[in-house]
Amino acid sequence: MYLFKKISSLRRYLELFRNKNRPIGFVPTMGALHEGHLSLVRQSLEAAQCTVSSIFVNPTQFNQASDLEKYPRTPTTDLTMLYKAGCHAVFMPSVEEVYPPGLETQVEVDFGPLALPMEGRFRPGHFDGVAQVVKRLLDIVEPQKLFMGQKDYQQFLIVQHMARTLELPVEVISCPIVREKNGLAMSSRNQRLSPEQRERAAALYQTLQQAASWARQLSPREVEAKAMEHLKSLGLEPEYFELADGQTLQPVPDYSSPASVVACAAIWVGGVRLIDNLILK
Ligand code: PAF
Repeated sequence: MYLFKKISSLRRYLELFRNKNRPIGFVPTMGALHEGHLSLVRQSLEAAQCTVSSIFVNPTQFNQASDLEKYPRTPTTDLTMLYKAGCHAVFMPSVEEVYPPGLETQVEVDFGPLALPMEGRFRPGHFDGVAQVVKRLLDIVEPQKLFMGQKDYQQFLIVQHMARTLELPVEVISCPIVREKNGLAMSSRNQRLSPEQRERAAALYQTLQQAASWARQLSPREVEAKAMEHLKSLGLEPEYFELADGQTLQPVPDYSSPASVVACAAIWVGGVRLIDNLILK
């Protein structure tokens, strides 16, 4: 496995694959890797001849300085995990390498209603930062395939929308959520939970599953209200629990009209913010 810190040397390495028309798969990460990230790497290894992963804690997508500061950083373990998974190359740039002074990296794409609910409502500016870094990394790596986790459902739709709008020559692929034994969706932020909090946080997935069965009898708004109450009764602090159209992310009026329905939620557990989702239809 090769480790690159500079764009120029990564590009020189990737030229070898490009010259031979060998597809490149890309797994962008912010490090603090877990099985979920490794599952993306494995899917890329199957679909492409070269797999590149990036480790870069992107400052522009954090809307709170304290969240950026507390974001877990485990570079040595991350590199070992990627090496063992068979990743070919890792890009671990500095902030200056990604955002050199004078280079315009803001993305001028209108995400419309996609960026407004849920994460967009509670983390203003977050998706502008995500789009900015993903576009910049895509410009650097120029992969044919981009692998993203379904856990960040809204993020996937935003990136897919950006790729389509800008006609980027990349296929954006959503990969299934990987869960702990107790159902908790794997997340780098889980590292900040105590064992007791990890157990409690599993109620988020259980509530998503319960929502699926409540939906047989209750309207979408009733399910949302019941899920919020349920999470609160368990001592969790839910920020939102929404039943949304799986394509537009707008609230669904019923279950029959939209082609797909997804339940998305965010909760706080002991100062750690977690998100999860379940596709209901
Ligand atoms: O999902 C993440 O880890 C990040 O938002 C991403 C896509 C790597 C961009 O920084």
